[in-house]
Amino acid sequence: MTGLAHLAQEAAGCTKCALSARRTQVVFGVGDPDADLLFVGEAPGRDEDLQGEPFVGRSGKLLDRLMAEELGIDRRQCYIANVVKCRPPDNRNPRPEEIEACRPYLVSQLDLIQPVVVVTLGNFATKLLLETDEGITRVRGKAYPFGRSHLVPTYHPAAALRSGGAVVAQMRSDLVRAKQLLGWT
Ligand code: URA
Ligand code: SF4
Repeated sequence: MTGLAHLAQEAAGCTKCALSARRTQVVFGVGDPDADLLFVGEAPGRDEDLQGEPFVGRSGKLLDRLMAEELGIDRRQCYIANVVKCRPPDNRNPRPEEIEACRPYLVSQLDLIQPVVVVTLGNFATKLLLETDEGITRVRGKAYPFGRSHLVPTYHPAAALRSGGAVVAQMRSDLVRAKQLLGWT
């Protein structure tokens, strides 16, 4: 078994935080264990909790579309994870102690996959990985050094679904930035 599969198996029974009580299943992550590109979202929603895969609901459809249109890839050619692996009840925000409890899984995913570019989707992933209190609107629009990788912050697709065209356009330009750093242009 690969390191990632082993970690997923370990996480499947995790009870390190209160989110374990009401989840259907742990949504560990999906995609290529050797991916150069890793997306990090916030937390599983209802669809993800039921299907066991990140970004399979409405936000995910938008993410899939932007990935195809701006990067020319589908989700099997990258890796997708979340800050917390279990669905918060009623889609509330994950709490600081839950984010902290779950963080080692994301850190291990980053260590094992060693992506070239990490794209953080929205405030939770961005604040956690960039170790900043600045909001996404302020920090997006450029890339940041992230260990041996680059970090490209962008909006969460749910924000784009709420806010519309201008946010989608900014997400597109952030993905073009990621593509350039990946050398895919
Ligand atoms: N929103 C997220 O942040 N992650 C998912 O997996 C689905 C929706
Ligand atoms: Fe464990 Fe993370 Fe799920 Fe909490 S959210 S129970 S830390 S896998």
